[in-house]
Amino acid sequence: MNMKRLLVPFLVFTTGLLVLVVTAGLLLLPSRSQQSAGKVPIGGPFRLTSHEGKPFTEENLKGRPFVVFFGFTHCPEVCPTTLYDLTQDMAALGQDASSLQAAFITVDPERDTPDLMKTYLESFDPRIVGLTGTEEAIAAAARAYKIYYRKVPTDGGYTMDHSATLFLMDSKGEFYGTSNFQEPEETRRSKLRQLVKNG
Ligand code: NI
Repeated sequence: MNMKRLLVPFLVFTTGLLVLVVTAGLLLLPSRSQQSAGKVPIGGPFRLTSHEGKPFTEENLKGRPFVVFFGFTHCPEVCPTTLYDLTQDMAALGQDASSLQAAFITVDPERDTPDLMKTYLESFDPRIVGLTGTEEAIAAAARAYKIYYRKVPTDGGYTMDHSATLFLMDSKGEFYGTSNFQEPEETRRSKLRQLVKNG
């Protein structure tokens, strides 16, 4: 008698539990399989122009690990600091970073011509290639890397607001990790060393 009375709530409970487990499993499955494949949807095709005035796509970078950074030459602080740190880090890694490449993609194509980028990049590691292009091409590259940028008017001009993440990409052009100028030197360098070794 007692057992029979308990049976209905028990069945309701176990059915509910089963639905919960299956739903959770289905929700987790795609993200887990995505992780195991090691693919994060950051990066991808772009079609830009190098600071040498030559066509430049992600294919020019694939084959060796690389770093991608978005910014602009008129940036007062974050961009020059990041490029300076990267230059110092690449020098400090020496042979460990000999295969490392880097791309500095402008978010200010209006002012950042190939010539201006070339002059600007003379202050930094020669392996850093400056990339510019049409507004549409820059927007497409920014979308591929999921970065944010925005034009902000100032007295008599404008500046650019932008994400300051360094994207570490493996030799297949797939996302490997991130770094940024606020990290301690040791952290940045160990990340770059890992990228060169495993990417
Ligand atoms: Ni900047």
